[in-house]
Amino acid sequence: MNIILMGLPGAGKGTQASKIIKKYPIPHISTGDMFRLAIKNETELGIQAKSYMDKGELVPDEVTIGIVKERLSQSDAKDGFLLDGFPRTVEQAEALNGIMDELGNKIDRTINVDVDEEELINRLTGRRICEVCGTAYHLVFNPPKQEGVCDLDGGKLYQREDDNPETVANRLEVNMKQTQPMLDFYKEQDILVNVDGSKHIDDVFVEIDEILQDL
Ligand code: AP5
Ligand code: ZN
Repeated sequence: MNIILMGLPGAGKGTQASKIIKKYPIPHISTGDMFRLAIKNETELGIQAKSYMDKGELVPDEVTIGIVKERLSQSDAKDGFLLDGFPRTVEQAEALNGIMDELGNKIDRTINVDVDEEELINRLTGRRICEVCGTAYHLVFNPPKQEGVCDLDGGKLYQREDDNPETVANRLEVNMKQTQPMLDFYKEQDILVNVDGSKHIDDVFVEIDEILQDL
């Protein structure tokens, strides 16, 4: 199964992706995670991406499309993948269709996780991430058993640099502009499914799983 998980910042893409890949063992391809890894490793890509991410802007299409093309061409993505945070512009969506054609493959479903803006702000500003395994917690909605510590491995929790209120506001504005044309693009191709992302994490997963079971 070739799946796109779409949704505004904070919609719960990463949270749902972790649950999806536990049940369906396909590679989880998150452009945000790829950029953060490049920043950590201080690569050329990381240096370039950081200047955009720190402001809550999108990394230029040609850069993003390039890394996704390379990743999707790897052998482990041949039998299915879960794209998270890509595409984010119509240009990226069109390029992705081109990549799929070249690889003799296609996208099966685009799952759009829908959450309203006020809730997104609360989710992003309260998010805390494990420095060891990357699991996302939330101070109120999904707190760890012990404050500041990951339940799974005892790792310390930190706040993502772009989760401060100012950058969050810009991320939401930038992404909201791009969203409707993308939804229209996938609606026209008849592969778009909307999921109510405002429900409890486990209930959102039940809805997503019903979609995946049908594939
Ligand atoms: P990226 O890392 O993709 O960030 P994002 O899209 O802003 O999404 P987030 O990771 O912030 O949110 P999420 O939907 O995964 O939510 P999560 O599950 O953590 O991108 C970062 C940056 O990289 C971009 O700004 C851009 O600069 C660049 N970039 C990436 N892709 C790009 C592209 N294609 N083109 C150009 N640039 C690109 O959940 C959020 C919080 O809510 C957590 O605390 C969680 O515990 C909680 N939560 C989750 N679900 C629920 C629920 N149902 N109820 C209550 N709380 C919940
Ligand atoms: Zn952890």
